[in-house]
Amino acid sequence: MTKILLTGASSYVGARIYEDLKNKYGLVGTYFQHQLFPELVQLDLTDKRAVEQIISQQKPKIIIHVANYPSVKEAANNEPGYIKLNKEATETLVGMANKIGAKIIFISSFAALNTSDIYGKLKLESEEIVKKTQAGYLILRLRLVIGLSPNTVNDRSFNRILRCVINQQSGEFDNSWVFRPTYLPHLSQVIDQVIKHNNFWNKTISIVIDHETTLKQIAQDILKEFELEAKAAERGHDFPVIKEDASAIAEFGLKPATYKEMIKEIVREVKQMITYR
Ligand SMILES: NC(=O)c1ccc[n+]([C@@H]2O[C@H](COP(=O)([O-])OP(=O)(O)OC[C@H]3O[C@@H](n4cnc5c(N)ncnc54)[C@H](OP(=O)(O)O)[C@@H]3O)[C@@H](O)[C@H]2O)c1
Repeated sequence: MTKILLTGASSYVGARIYEDLKNKYGLVGTYFQHQLFPELVQLDLTDKRAVEQIISQQKPKIIIHVANYPSVKEAANNEPGYIKLNKEATETLVGMANKIGAKIIFISSFAALNTSDIYGKLKLESEEIVKKTQAGYLILRLRLVIGLSPNTVNDRSFNRILRCVINQQSGEFDNSWVFRPTYLPHLSQVIDQVIKHNNFWNKTISIVIDHETTLKQIAQDILKEFELEAKAAERGHDFPVIKEDASAIAEFGLKPATYKEMIKEIVREVKQMITYR
């Protein structure tokens, strides 16, 4: 079994990757302060010695690096913290990967195309660092991520929709930003293909679905299945318009979900989750 180290296995994005892949590979997941699964290993990624120790012990063939501070808004108030986790930890991981001959899969963001804020700047700088991984790298650029994760509590957009369902209440969601969402299970599917075929390395790839929408539309399409309402909030986002390329997922030999399929599957998973709560 391929030995893999996954950072941020308790995060909204990382927990779904962990759940989807844990029985397929020798997956060791790390957490910082929230141990979502009992078998996860504690790791502070800003502690260089601790990172070096765990990688020397585990000797993974692949490191999937998910754990970053994810908020553009909070970055300006915690610049030193963001630099430590969102850049310096990447340097440590790449240094260690090169020492033991491991590959790196790095979860990045379309924000890397907008370096006017610190979050985007650090994502781009981390991408450049990850490209120095000698054994091979893969950079996955995400837009706003939608989909059910074992982490239902972190303050991510999808979890706000989920909270409406759990509390049986309507909600307000931004209707000003038009974008192509990233469907969370596509990440595990792409990563699985890459590892299984040991192919597609040394690329930067966009993971989005082929449909432009708003968060309010997504929330409405999900909440109406639970007889709830999504109201429009015009937050006036002025994110730069980026024509996200949705064709990459098919290059992995996968058939990506359409928007309709994504909503249908999310509703099915949420209904199942509520039944077993
Ligand atoms: N969610 C999105 O829409 C989206 C979009 C584009 C890109 N991304 C990228 O996806 C990744 C995950 O984002 P997310 O939305 O899942 O974020 P999240 O749920 O807020 O998780 C952030 C994670 O960072 C970990 N962390 C914080 N400080 C740490 C430290 N010192 N050492 C180790 N781990 C630390 C936390 O671990 P504990 O919980 O264990 O404390 C937490 O699991 C990020 O790289 C983000 O940039 C997300």
